[in-house]
Amino acid sequence: MSFPTVNPTETASWKALENHFQTIASHGMEKVLTDNDIRAKAMSLSWQDFFFDYSKNRMTEETLSLLIALAKEVDLKTAIDLQFAGEKINATENRAVLHTALRNFDAMKPEVSQTLERIKQFSEAVISGTYKGFSGKPITDIINVGIGGSHLGPEMVVEALHHYRNHLGIHFIANVDGDHVQDTLSNLNPETTLIIVVSKSFTTQETLTNATVVKDWFLQKASQEAIAKHFVAVSTNTEEAVRFGVSDHNVFPMYDWVGGRFSLWGAVGLSISFALGYHRFEELLKGGFEMDKHFKTASFNQNIPVILGLLSIWYNNFFKVETEAIITYSEYLHKFVPYLQQAFMESNGKSVDRNGTTVDYQTGTIVWGDVGSNAQHAFFQLLHQGTKWVPTDFIGFSQPLQGNTANHNILMANFFAQTESLWEGKETDSQNPYTRFEGNRPSNTLLIKKLTPKNLGSLIALYEHKVFVQGVIWNIYSYDQWGVELGKKVAQGTLQAIAQQDPNHMTNASTQQLLKQYLQDQTEKK
Ligand code: F6P
Repeated sequence: MSFPTVNPTETASWKALENHFQTIASHGMEKVLTDNDIRAKAMSLSWQDFFFDYSKNRMTEETLSLLIALAKEVDLKTAIDLQFAGEKINATENRAVLHTALRNFDAMKPEVSQTLERIKQFSEAVISGTYKGFSGKPITDIINVGIGGSHLGPEMVVEALHHYRNHLGIHFIANVDGDHVQDTLSNLNPETTLIIVVSKSFTTQETLTNATVVKDWFLQKASQEAIAKHFVAVSTNTEEAVRFGVSDHNVFPMYDWVGGRFSLWGAVGLSISFALGYHRFEELLKGGFEMDKHFKTASFNQNIPVILGLLSIWYNNFFKVETEAIITYSEYLHKFVPYLQQAFMESNGKSVDRNGTTVDYQTGTIVWGDVGSNAQHAFFQLLHQGTKWVPTDFIGFSQPLQGNTANHNILMANFFAQTESLWEGKETDSQNPYTRFEGNRPSNTLLIKKLTPKNLGSLIALYEHKVFVQGVIWNIYSYDQWGVELGKKVAQGTLQAIAQQDPNHMTNASTQQLLKQYLQDQTEKK
């Protein structure tokens, strides 16, 4: 069994979908749900605390069966099995893709359970105050220094589960923007602050720069020996972490078989365990594990990540829609979209297929969005009446967390109203074309009982698997990220140009001009 390498556009089902598209494209589907509750029932499914309704989509039962035929032709099932089996499916880096192993409570790798035990012991000692800083005071604040996958996941989860937080202050330093770093540090006391430096490679410029600034800040009040009590690292590169100054027994592992953007489930999630307590961190993992079992075992027409992935292919490759929006009706989920942007766009922003050929079809969708109902008062005008239409996932919760049902009902009334009005539109008033809503604008609805650690875990895993489904169908490698390397390299040159005050160090005339202006502005300031 080898990982499939099928060009999707050469399959019989792709051709069938192209023909089928002609009938659907010209078909206003907005009324199908007013006369047909069979459709609503057929195109929805319940799974644990999730209710998933995909009936407001520009598709019929035939569309779904053709999409499923496509999934079968590209051998999605084999791909799923090989991923979970730990095959090196990230072939361009010769690595397995096993973030699911970090939450596999049925057959946990010993190194994973040992790390979980370390996370548990450490976070419990810090939360209870038995763990003391160098001057004998308990820890009050945690700083997570990391960027990309070493930041977005933990920050998103800590924010999303704010309701379950304890007394510890959790701070995130990611950007190499020194103003933000200084702002963060200015309110903290080194005696009571614990610093987690998270970097899979331990070579990332932003993280190492920021970690050094934090270390210097710390050493203004503390001795070199005190570092052992206040700095921990999460990395695959113990050697570099130790060279930076972290004691080797304070280095938590990352694994080459877990990609950075999928790593919040292991030691990268230390800040989550500090913020919520280990038991809730474990609930999050268990939620992810439940979704893994669903993804692995449910038939494709009952499989939420598979259906979501296939619908995305339908819009991206047949309707040629370029973007997808995700709107979460919970303020707590305000970091969910930036988190998913890395998951989707770093994974599937590729243009060479698994045979090494440049693709002649569209891959990675642009993912964007915000929280509802705020977004309704910002960009929803375009969603309702713009010339572009944007398939949108609406994510909402049936129960509020703090018992304010009156507000929650208003929030969710908007949630339901938006999906309906995007879909149904409004009859044309011939006197006033400006008030016309054409409708026929698709959305998926994920109605989840409550925002709990477990349900959040399932939700994150659901989107991770959607990324995988899309990547398999597009026949691309979803787990490398060569595309971010060039900018990093060029930045070494521009930094050198700045250090040497020599714009001509760069050859591009526009860059030279900008550097000249930059250096001149800096001199004037002085
Ligand atoms: O530059 C992109 C990237 O490599 C991401 O994939 C990764 O999440 C991030 O940088 C941070 O990398 P590291 O954890 O090695 O510091």
